[in-house]
Amino acid sequence: MEKYIITGGKPLKGEVTISGAKNAAVAILPATVLANDVCIIENLPDISDVRMEIDMLKALGARVERLSPTVLKIDTSTIDCTEVPLELGIKMRASYYFLGSLLSRFGEANVPMPGGCNLGARPIDQHLKAFMALNATYELDYSMINVSTEHLTAAHVFFDMVSVGATINAMLAAVMADGTTILENVAKEPHIVDVANFLNTMGADIRGAGTDVIKINGVKRMHGANYSIIPDQIEAGTFMVMAAASRGDILVKNIIPKHLEAITSKLRAVGAEVYEFDDSIHIIGVDRYESTNIKTMPHPGFPTDLQPVMGVLLCIADGTSIITEGIWDSRFKYCDELNKMGASIQVEGRVAVFEGVEKLKAAPVKATDLRAGAALVTAALIAEGTSEISEVQHVERGYVDIVKKIRALGGDIRKIDIPDDEALKKAY
Ligand code: EPU
Repeated sequence: MEKYIITGGKPLKGEVTISGAKNAAVAILPATVLANDVCIIENLPDISDVRMEIDMLKALGARVERLSPTVLKIDTSTIDCTEVPLELGIKMRASYYFLGSLLSRFGEANVPMPGGCNLGARPIDQHLKAFMALNATYELDYSMINVSTEHLTAAHVFFDMVSVGATINAMLAAVMADGTTILENVAKEPHIVDVANFLNTMGADIRGAGTDVIKINGVKRMHGANYSIIPDQIEAGTFMVMAAASRGDILVKNIIPKHLEAITSKLRAVGAEVYEFDDSIHIIGVDRYESTNIKTMPHPGFPTDLQPVMGVLLCIADGTSIITEGIWDSRFKYCDELNKMGASIQVEGRVAVFEGVEKLKAAPVKATDLRAGAALVTAALIAEGTSEISEVQHVERGYVDIVKKIRALGGDIRKIDIPDDEALKKAY
């Protein structure tokens, strides 16, 4: 069992370079299936979710070659299978993007029910609604989803709620459908725009990504492309909060400041100094922070994926702060862990009330999911004493070299690997 051992109290200082966006990468890899050709994908984050999708592409028959740690050459012309193996697909959420891309190219896809972080109910009814509108049918067979079609035809789809996954899956399925598809009430996250840009580079005709309405003129075929993925705004936001919470001073590099406006504005609201440049942001922490209220919302609102790490800063802000979670039913599990570290947080459904405390104290805690894990790492970095964080595999699903990057900023963090039987003895 791998754990992080973190001794808190050191302000993080220096520069950090942000990697490619996880939630764009995990959609762009399945999108390469549309090409029947070779794609070169650059700025890919080397994280376990990406490595799992590479295994899925290989299982489908694609040839995948790593040209460098961040560049992949993917030849999808050799794909001869439309089923993502169960043992791979159930490990992560984004495996469901193979539904849209395989359906589009082969008229059929078999993909396991998606796994991923446990954030409460995560239905995929809106994905299926879009596939059906495009003239496909689906069957749920135990743990597999099967979608198929004789011929995809364009449709007008109005989504019941704003969904990142359903917007991307509908784009993947519609790019080669006959006619003009209109998608309304779509997600507008930067990775939606990135996926649309990649698809357009492959020959698709998609307009309006980044607004509420996306229009897709179906094309006959797609081709290979070279593409570089946008920087990860959630990784960037995480380091911005780490700088503020540790009262440090970090230049966060290789970012698009426009994607970070929600977090920049909240950090300024609590008192941190934030300076924006063309492709970097400089954050200087201060001694005391003011309280604030946050409601997470689809982009351009405050991103749910940064809510846990921002919660850590609110633990040490003066007075009472409130976070209302607007996307997921269950994204406050990290609060129980922070309370073990001396925080004062009360959770009632989708609302968490933070009473500021002077400081956090080290404790053994568990990363219950990816962003909860990032929050606990941040908390441990500012806590008095040495904390032990378990279940860190969740963190490594989404953050490239997090231990190395924090150490380079002066943080006292190391990863240890305890054999499972010793970990068990320690637990009793
Ligand atoms: N929803 C439905 N039906 C659907 C689809 C979504 O009811 O068919 C609901 C969800 O239950 C949720 C809301 O709509 O309440 C929004 O879900 P969305 O589909 O936007 O989320 P997702 O595509 O499953 C992606 C990210 C998440 C991020 C959310 C929101 C990926 C792989 N995951 O999830 O990222 O929290 O968008 O921005 O892109 C993370 O990186 O830690 C993470 C969880």
